[in-house]
Amino acid sequence: MEALRIDIITVLPELLRSPLEHSIIQRARDKGLVQIELLNLRDFALGRYKSVDDYPYGGGGGMILRCEPLSACIEHLLAERNYDAIIYTTPDGKTFDQRTANTLSTFRNIMIICGHYKGIDQRIRDKYVTHEISIGDYVLSGGELAACILTDAIVRLVPGAIGDEMSALTDSFQDDLLAPPIYTRPEEWNGMRVPDVLLSGNDKRIKDWQLEQSLEKTKTRRPDLLA
Ligand code: ADE
Repeated sequence: MEALRIDIITVLPELLRSPLEHSIIQRARDKGLVQIELLNLRDFALGRYKSVDDYPYGGGGGMILRCEPLSACIEHLLAERNYDAIIYTTPDGKTFDQRTANTLSTFRNIMIICGHYKGIDQRIRDKYVTHEISIGDYVLSGGELAACILTDAIVRLVPGAIGDEMSALTDSFQDDLLAPPIYTRPEEWNGMRVPDVLLSGNDKRIKDWQLEQSLEKTKTRRPDLLA
């Protein structure tokens, strides 16, 4: 199977490097299931000062990533391959969720543009971007951490990325339910025992109990998921 390719455009490639070089993501890269490339926007900057940003028209604070270097970088990538999604990480985008992660994990080529400073020139959004995604209702210093979160959530869903094939399917949200409580050894710790049902060896009883716990937890913490 052809690997999932994720190209990430950023002014801070170093901020992304380490988070994408460990655990499930690194193993998926090692297995050739996913290819992740970091593109430094500064390599596409024009002029002596390699400037990538400028002041906003109309005033207001903050700097904005300019059209020319972004366009040069995006066109460089588009010359090589087609993209199923060109994502811009931004707090005014659609809130990221498991459903979106599932969809994106079925794509072949994904480009992620990380906003930085105040964001990117609107014309780049109008011309290229297919998905504008926020990771939550708060503002980060830049889109890099958001891009890491998207990448992590997507890559772990790629078939073969997780050793236990079932594991991703039993995550919270995968069936619009929060995950049930989980336990490992020892059976008793600090006077607190693992629920007997989990030690029973009775698969049906265990599944029923987990579903009941999931429903109860979802009802109290996230009733919106059940609606
Ligand atoms: N950039 C800054 N804040 C962000 C957020 N909440 N989600 C995605 N990208 C962002």
